[in-house]
Amino acid sequence: MLTVHRPGPAPHRDDLRALCGDRLVEVTGRADAHAALGRLLTTAPFGSHVHTCGPAGLITAVARIARAAHWIDARIHAEAFVPEPGPGAGFRAVLHRSGRSVEVGARETLLDAVHRVGVAAPAMCRRGVCGECVTPVLDGEVEHRDTVLTDDERADRMALCVSRAAGTALGLDL
Ligand code: FES
Repeated sequence: MLTVHRPGPAPHRDDLRALCGDRLVEVTGRADAHAALGRLLTTAPFGSHVHTCGPAGLITAVARIARAAHWIDARIHAEAFVPEPGPGAGFRAVLHRSGRSVEVGARETLLDAVHRVGVAAPAMCRRGVCGECVTPVLDGEVEHRDTVLTDDERADRMALCVSRAAGTALGLDL
């Protein structure tokens, strides 16, 4: 296990040390974190999974380093330090490339609705921080709830896992 924190006291350090003993690798700087992560990802036993809990930048960096070390997405997991996105109004999503459309429920994410009708869409963090599910928008207004897209990028794409239609329908390049 790798824990990365600022120099000085760190939350849960004693608990982690008690749980992991000598297997706990503790680093405080970005360069040391990347080096330690590289070592762990290239020496982990076959079939291992990597789980990252932390801010968006850390999640993105870990995923990038893991992919560069030939880890597949199905073995890369993340939980971001951001609040769970709340529900919104229902709307219709038209998936132009696959010729499908789906009604998205008020308490359902667009990503889940797309998957429900059998259309493939990649995802990783499911919190709007990694960018994995970002998809081009062909028509309709978006209520953006992600923390990954820039204002310019928001002009024509959206994160399916957290963002929703601002109106009653959206057209997607899916
Ligand atoms: S799955 Fe990470 S931004 Fe949507």
